[in-house]
Amino acid sequence: MQVQGEVSAHEIDRVTAERSLGALLQLAYSGEKAAAYAYRGHWRSSSDAAERAGIRAIEEDEWHHRRLVGEMLDELGLAPDPKRERRAAVIGRVLGALCHVSGWLAPMVGAGKLESRNIHEYESAARYAVDCGRGEWLDALLTMAEVEWDHERFFRSAVETHWLGKRLCLWPAPPARESIRAAFEPLDVVGAALG
Ligand SMILES: [Fe+2]
Ligand SMILES: [Fe+2]
Repeated sequence: MQVQGEVSAHEIDRVTAERSLGALLQLAYSGEKAAAYAYRGHWRSSSDAAERAGIRAIEEDEWHHRRLVGEMLDELGLAPDPKRERRAAVIGRVLGALCHVSGWLAPMVGAGKLESRNIHEYESAARYAVDCGRGEWLDALLTMAEVEWDHERFFRSAVETHWLGKRLCLWPAPPARESIRAAFEPLDVVGAALG
């Protein structure tokens, strides 16, 4: 029996998950800005029309993610972290500018690694969202993880076309795209039953 004023273990877990989700979304929100600025410099530095279009589309995806994550933060009653926001603007712009002088391969490898991390970031956010009772965000967070998976594939494929890139030991390849959603399927079933 729960005594008045006593907080249940379930409630503690929920609050912990919500805090973790909020912190991760603040990180992602600023990370998307840094990535978008960096990709802006990246596509502008490319002389290949298809490559420019591909990276430009990825920049747009990142701005879209930032809007979605911003809405989630707002619903959690959280603001973006001002320090992270300032840092993201500087890092993104510097990386974008460096693309004009660093050659072709380094920005492609850097972007691929970054995208690989982003997949995991949105998978973790999806897990926390479920744990804190925000199951309605599951689909949006998993879709963002899937789009990051597509971005990772784009940059990995580009690196693998390069004579030196082919010889490099690249970052670990993520599991199959389908595994992102498959890991959450039992939760979807539960959610549908409850909803
Ligand atoms: Fe993104
Ligand atoms: Fe991305």
